[in-house]
Amino acid sequence: MTKPIQHLITTKNLDKKSAIKILDTTENMFEKIVQKKQKLDSLKNHKIANLFFEDSTRTKLSFEIATKNLSAQTINFTPKGSSLSKGENLKDTVQTLQAMGANAIIIRHQACGAAQYLAQSSWTKIPIINAGDGKHQHPTQALLDAYTIRKNLKPKTSTTNTLGKDLQNTNIVIVGDILHSRVARSNIYLLHTLGAKITLVAAPTMLPKYVETWPVKISYNFDETLKKHPDVVMMLRIQKERMQDNYFPNNKEYTKYWGLNLERIKLLSKNTLILHPGPINRDLEISTTIADAPQTKILEQVTNGIYVRMAVLELILSPKHTLFEGK
Ligand code: NCD
Repeated sequence: MTKPIQHLITTKNLDKKSAIKILDTTENMFEKIVQKKQKLDSLKNHKIANLFFEDSTRTKLSFEIATKNLSAQTINFTPKGSSLSKGENLKDTVQTLQAMGANAIIIRHQACGAAQYLAQSSWTKIPIINAGDGKHQHPTQALLDAYTIRKNLKPKTSTTNTLGKDLQNTNIVIVGDILHSRVARSNIYLLHTLGAKITLVAAPTMLPKYVETWPVKISYNFDETLKKHPDVVMMLRIQKERMQDNYFPNNKEYTKYWGLNLERIKLLSKNTLILHPGPINRDLEISTTIADAPQTKILEQVTNGIYVRMAVLELILSPKHTLFEGK
C-alpha cells in the first residue's frame, strides 16, 4: 500500500501523540548521528528541494545538513538567478522541480499561506514542508524549540513529574515582537498541545488583535513576569522587515522595557532556560552578555534544528513511518 502524502504546514493540527513522536524521533536521530556516529541511508535516492524565497541561514542550512545526514540529495532553488525574473510563477516553479524528480519541497516564502497553497493544489504530488510563511507559521522551529526545552529541563522535585518528557505545566514566557512572529505562532500551538502554560510579554502594539483567541496569558510587565520564575524565557527578534509602521518609539526605549539584560536575568532562577530562534539583534532584544551566557541555548537550538529536521524528513518520506498519528 502506498503511503498518503503528508505535509507539515502548521503546528495547529499537530496532535500530542504525533508531536511527541517527532521529538522522540529527534532524540533517536541525535543518538545515531552524534553518539553512535552512524551513517543513515533511510532516504537514499531521494531528492529534497529547498525553495527559499526569503533569506535564511539556520533553517536552510540545517535542512540541507539533515538531508545529507539521511543520504538524500538537496536541490537548492534561489529566486535570484532563477526563471522568476522571466515571469515564471510558483506553480510552474514547483511543477518544474517535481518533473526533475524532487521527492519533497521545503518552502520559505514571504506570503502567509504559500505552503498551504502548494499542499492543497491538485498539481502538487509530493510532500510540502513549511520553513516559514510570512508571519504565519514555522513548524520545525517550534519543534526544535520544544526539543531543546525538553532536553534541558530538569524534572522538578517529584519523580512522577513528567516535565522533562512532554512539557506538561512548564511555564514558558514568549517576549517581544509577537505581532510579526511566525515563531511565536508556531510555538504557542505546539507548546499548548504539549501541556505547557504560555505567557506573552509585549507592548500592546506588538500583539495581534485576535490574541484573546490564543491559549495564552498576556502580560505588559516584563519584570513582574520574570519574578514568577518561569522555566523558559523565549526572546523574539524585532522583525523590522515586516513592519510598515513605527511600533515602538526607538531602540533605546524598546530595550528598556522589553530587552533581556543583566539586571533582568537576576530576577530569574539559574535553571531558567533562555531561548532565541536567531538571528539576534545584539543589545536590542537581548544584551550581548546574556546572548553568550551558559543559560542561553541559542546555539544548541541551532544544532537541535538538524536532528528535528532529520526526524521530520524521515517520518514524512520513509515508507516505514508516518508523521501524523491521529488523536
Ligand atoms: C526565524 C524566522 O526566520 O522565522 N528564524 C529562524 O528561522 N531561525 C525568526 C526570525 O527571523 O526572527
